[in-house]
Amino acid sequence: MTKRVAVVTGGIGGLGTAICKRLAQDGRQVIAADLGNRQERLAAFREETKEYDGSIVFAPADVSKFEDCENLVKHLTEKYGSVDIVVNAAGITRDTSLKKMSQAQWTDLMHVNLDGVFNMCRNTVDGMTTRNFGRIVNISSVNGQTGQFGQTNYSAAKAGMHGFTMALAREVAKKGVTVNSVSPGYCKTEMVMKVPEEIRAQIVAQVPVGRLGEPSEIARTVAFLTADDAGFITGANIPVNGGYFMSF
Ligand code: CAA
Repeated sequence: MTKRVAVVTGGIGGLGTAICKRLAQDGRQVIAADLGNRQERLAAFREETKEYDGSIVFAPADVSKFEDCENLVKHLTEKYGSVDIVVNAAGITRDTSLKKMSQAQWTDLMHVNLDGVFNMCRNTVDGMTTRNFGRIVNISSVNGQTGQFGQTNYSAAKAGMHGFTMALAREVAKKGVTVNSVSPGYCKTEMVMKVPEEIRAQIVAQVPVGRLGEPSEIARTVAFLTADDAGFITGANIPVNGGYFMSF
């Protein structure tokens, strides 16, 4: 069988890089889609993934732009024949309390974190349903479940991703396509390291496991949900947060 083709948005970021590596280890052809203008990060990504020798490739795309996603999917379909797996891991923060939040801090975040999910799914779902196979994983956040001080924008987008997940899961369930979300807790990424140290320490103190998560622990969950034999899990949200938030 030819390799399944997986696109990971935010693919050169903290969680994205770990997800790319894990999917490549599992035999996927991986495309890390991300902004092309972060030269330093891109160089670090190429260094980190050089041993994967062609099974992880970088493709520039701004997920907030519908045409970028459309062109990317067209190009990949021509080159590889299909896009079978989409992991929406592109995300930004614009943390500040609502009373200080500018309209741009709200809309910029929505364009990337939520429009990006629509833009990628809208351009890939028809191919997946036609071929009767697809795996979509949306990387949400524990803060979409609990809310977080200074994150009305981020918490709204992350909770919104899960509503999207459940609705699309129903639409494509009979066509071999699953749609799930993963809600990471605080992990060792640049995004989390930007939170002031004192606040981060307070958050970690509330994590029963007593530490930040490893990006590889999120990647492992994504690999599980995107496996060929994961076809009975759909519309689910898997929390991976060290016990920070528990529900049933
Ligand atoms: N709970 C209650 N009160 C809080 C608070 C909290 N968590 N954080 C700050 N405050 C209080 C402050 O003590 C201060 O009180 P006073 O006015 O009495 O001095 C007041 O709220 C500050 O309010 P401001 O309106 O001035 O807040 P701000 O605009 O400066 O924003 C903040 C503060 C930058 C948002 C800061 O609270 C912060 O960094 N919080 C953490 C946000 C966070 O966890 N982000 C996660 C990023 S990583 C990520 O998102 C990945 C993932 O999915 C997990």
